[in-house]
Amino acid sequence: MKTNDLLEPNIFVIFGGAGDLTWRKLMPALFDLSQSHSIPAHFAIIAVDRVALSEDALRKRLHEGVKRFARSGKTAVKEWKQLSLHIRYLQGDFKANATYAEVGQLRASLEKEWGAKAQRIFYMATPPSLFGEIPRLINYAGLAADRERSRIVIEKPIGYDLESAQALNRTLANDFQESQIFRIDHYLGKETVQNILAFRFANPLFEPIWNRRYVDYVTITVAEEVGVEHRGGYYDKAGALRDMVQNHLLQLLCLVAMEPMVSFDADEIRNKKVDVLHAARPVPHDEVHRSTVRGQYDSGWVGGKKVCAYREEDGVSPDSPTETFAALRLFIDNWRWQDVPFYLRTGKRLLRQASEIAIQFRAVPHQSFPSEATLDWKPSRLILLIQPDEGIVLRFQAKHPGPKMVLQPVDMQFSYRESFDTPSPEAYVTLLADVIDNDATLFMRDDQVEAAWRLLMPVLEVWNSSPPNDFPNYASGTWGPDSTQGLLVQQGHSWPAPVELAGRPK
Ligand code: BG6
Repeated sequence: MKTNDLLEPNIFVIFGGAGDLTWRKLMPALFDLSQSHSIPAHFAIIAVDRVALSEDALRKRLHEGVKRFARSGKTAVKEWKQLSLHIRYLQGDFKANATYAEVGQLRASLEKEWGAKAQRIFYMATPPSLFGEIPRLINYAGLAADRERSRIVIEKPIGYDLESAQALNRTLANDFQESQIFRIDHYLGKETVQNILAFRFANPLFEPIWNRRYVDYVTITVAEEVGVEHRGGYYDKAGALRDMVQNHLLQLLCLVAMEPMVSFDADEIRNKKVDVLHAARPVPHDEVHRSTVRGQYDSGWVGGKKVCAYREEDGVSPDSPTETFAALRLFIDNWRWQDVPFYLRTGKRLLRQASEIAIQFRAVPHQSFPSEATLDWKPSRLILLIQPDEGIVLRFQAKHPGPKMVLQPVDMQFSYRESFDTPSPEAYVTLLADVIDNDATLFMRDDQVEAAWRLLMPVLEVWNSSPPNDFPNYASGTWGPDSTQGLLVQQGHSWPAPVELAGRPK
């Protein structure tokens, strides 16, 4: 294990330590961190869960996850052995005080052994129904009494709507200070998402044209090939708006639309982001049907395989009204963005995985080329590719070689793969390193979560009160319901075809 001696001793308690998130994401990320000098020399993972499991059996299971999901998990067997010695398993009921007392005893003995006080991280890898109860019991047991050294990590979903999110935030605030609460939106850990800030504010080139004068409209697409996989039970109560738009897509919107930060301070950046949500205009109830589209996938073909309809998935009701696709048009009422539409869309079982933000610039104010030169002419577009391709494409006009003046769109591209010899880390690797380092920049603050819900409430309310009568309304393996085009056509706009970087490995 390659440790970092500058980091304070750390006890990483995972509630739900035998569960899927720990196996699939947390342990592989901690393993990757242990390979890159990002774990303190004094470090312990306490996995807490209800199931009867020996420490050895848990380690074995976690190793399976590491082999499958961590970057060097398959090969680094010796390194895994070293890290696994730091894992303890504590079987206990999440609702019993005794469980927390045991965590306290374990902590005390570790601190005694290390001769130093440890940072304590309490990670909620449990169903959301426990998000209120566990923090209360942690606090009751005095485990978080040292405010400087204890923090709690909560995964989305943060609430089910505005009211439940506010209630959860209030409950958390009873036991923890806001600076101790780390709310995860894993999109913020993605390298390409963080690069939006670097691209916008480390280069003076684009900032002068990043406004309503030059930008015609912006599209944000997060398209997934996968269906609901093994999470039908959860997803059927959530739907695309809650599962993806309220968090991931609105985070992308904030980063694209925010004002420059004054410093790289966590609260300064989060203030600028929340300003965007405050300026975003909630869709009026009587406009929802014109400004949004919802859809649900039918059976179809994805990646050459036949896939079932959403209503046939495990855990999903056979007449489910839950949307697996959501698109909406938003406006941001401020000086920079007044009247510029931001179109957001996300869906499952779409034609292919593609997450990207396209900034569509306005047409030239006066076209001075002869009409035969501009048959293929398109206004310039900048595309920020989030995944699976990682990079940026600038599409602009060039003169086609030949005796005549003929314009044709061409691409200039930056690709992470070509420009850097280090691959991008998994989002969780970045986020867990930040939790250990007590850096909250990439985490959601209470006011931002609530502002995001507030913005979407009218859509949720209208969708809820008028169940769809055309579901399923798109075949798996397409770009979603046909009516999605209508959202943009009203304004003479269109969804850009997702871009693939040249030289992408097939
Ligand atoms: C999760 C959603 O937050 O993000 C899932 O709950 C979704 O439904 C996933 O599939 C997408 O994440 P990524 O990193 O694969 O784009």
